[in-house]
Amino acid sequence: MPEIASRQHLVVLNPLIEGALRQAGVKLHDLNAIAVAHGPGLVGALLVGVATAKALAYAARLPLIAVNHLQAHLYANHLCGFDIKYPAVILVVSGGHTELLYSEEPGSITLLGHTRDDAAGEAFDKVARALELGYPGGPIIDSLAEKGNPAAIDFPRALMNEEGRFDFSFSGLKTAVINHLYHARRQGHQYVIADVVASFQEALVDALVEKTVSAAKAHKAATVLIAGGVAANSRLRFKLKERLGHDLPYAGLYVPPLELCTDNAAMIAAAAYPLYRQGRYASLDLNAYPGLGMGDL
Ligand code: KG4
Ligand code: ZN
Repeated sequence: MPEIASRQHLVVLNPLIEGALRQAGVKLHDLNAIAVAHGPGLVGALLVGVATAKALAYAARLPLIAVNHLQAHLYANHLCGFDIKYPAVILVVSGGHTELLYSEEPGSITLLGHTRDDAAGEAFDKVARALELGYPGGPIIDSLAEKGNPAAIDFPRALMNEEGRFDFSFSGLKTAVINHLYHARRQGHQYVIADVVASFQEALVDALVEKTVSAAKAHKAATVLIAGGVAANSRLRFKLKERLGHDLPYAGLYVPPLELCTDNAAMIAAAAYPLYRQGRYASLDLNAYPGLGMGDL
């Protein structure tokens, strides 16, 4: 519920900023700049963040820096001090996005493929909701799946045989899981929730791994990076490492630690840093852009 989410931002934002400054042992005036994610996302939540950042920047006379939330997920990798070699193939998987990107050199990014319907995180969240497991669904399914059999149910893996194309589709998989539950319940069949979620996760992860590895092969990637909340998924991390080690042993795989995969402020600051160095400041009439794409600044 976007309206409730925006109001909740208003409630938590000031105490959160005060707490962060206290924890870091700094005052507002010790900072060099204020950075804010101005898109993509829910417009109400973005507006609360943008308005807060503008007020802080104005009051403390600090430069304001506008950051693209999606690009910031990539900067989580830079925070870890990884020595990224190019060309690189990057999988961005979050609650709102599933994109496969190619980077020839630092700063250049082209889109190889994206989801045609649901994002990967959205599929995790919707399947968890159908099973009444709670929100966000990704981490819950991830740990529940450890107790299940990933081969118990053969859920569909869409668009797997499209040579040279790197799009994804998860809405059919989500519907297949929901249909499976519906029929099992109607016919009074027992089903093991751990098996259902393990099989769902396996199908989704297989599609992500297959496309990422074939894109890395096609573009002779020296590095494969993953970013976004779903990059925290243990099965994805395991299978991607295994497949890359087998198919492309010379390519490095970089995976940020869990707390830098899901949304966090450190990645926003990391993405702001090069813009700060280049003096690319935003003006105080900065707006929120819910539909900002990966390549937009
Ligand atoms: O990047 P993020 O924190 O927020 C967005 O920008 O969307 O990603 C949130 C998404 C949610 O859909 C959540 O269910 C998923 O990431 N997620 C996971 C895991 N941890 C978070 N999905 C699968 N496995 C996980 N361990
Ligand atoms: Zn995110």
